[in-house]
Amino acid sequence: MKTIAVISQKGGAGKTTLAINLAVAADRAGNGGVTLIDLDPQASASVWGDNRELPTPQVASVQPNRLQPCLDKARADGAGFVVIDTAPHSETAALAAARAADLILIPCRPAVLDLHAIGSTIDLARLAGTPAAVLLNSIPSRGSLADEAAEAVAGYEIPLVPVRIVQRAAYVHSLTCGKSIQEFEPRGKGAEEIDRLYRWICDAAAI
Ligand SMILES: Nc1ncnc2c1ncn2[C@@H]1O[C@H](COP(=O)(O)OP(=O)(O)OP(=O)(O)O)[C@@H](O)[C@H]1O
Ligand SMILES: [Mg+2]
Repeated sequence: MKTIAVISQKGGAGKTTLAINLAVAADRAGNGGVTLIDLDPQASASVWGDNRELPTPQVASVQPNRLQPCLDKARADGAGFVVIDTAPHSETAALAAARAADLILIPCRPAVLDLHAIGSTIDLARLAGTPAAVLLNSIPSRGSLADEAAEAVAGYEIPLVPVRIVQRAAYVHSLTCGKSIQEFEPRGKGAEEIDRLYRWICDAAAI
């Protein structure tokens, strides 16, 4: 079982959006069952699960101190892939997720305050000793912001995911109706970028 934790101490970076899209991509690929663990008391991923018509991926809303039993249950149930969505501003919970993960994804918007804020999340990943990579999210479809952000990330000496997630209304609309972008617009560019992200993660986490 491979576990991917989506962590950023900054609010609104896109943790829940990416965790959901990744969990559905993994589910579509099989993996013997996928569990999306929602550690955030705001429960956004769980609300998405409530609005979903399909029974998979499984969504589990758990308190951080119940993370390990939840992972044990997923493994016992035969899950091959687990995605953990975390809350912002919660170091203890984020550290528990970071320690449990095979790979940490750190989403970051291409803006100076966001780029500055990833430092504390990178420190947390290093403390946990878990491989991590920064994923640029909500990139404007035009302009040089993404290239400038990539340069700023290089200063942290952490891998940058070679897939950039563009700012698309379809990410918002799909979640509203309990879907992922791949289900909402199967032939869209967003579906294709999530597919590339999923495949990059499979390589990075040796899935
Ligand atoms: N690539 C994207 N394109 C368009 N909108 C996006 C994208 N990524 C995230 N959003 C939107 O930005 C907002 C914040 O995203 P999201 O809730 O996923 O962030 P978060 O990191 O989980 O936030 P929190 O820290 O509050 O848990 C949401 O309204 C979401 O729909
Ligand atoms: Mg969230």
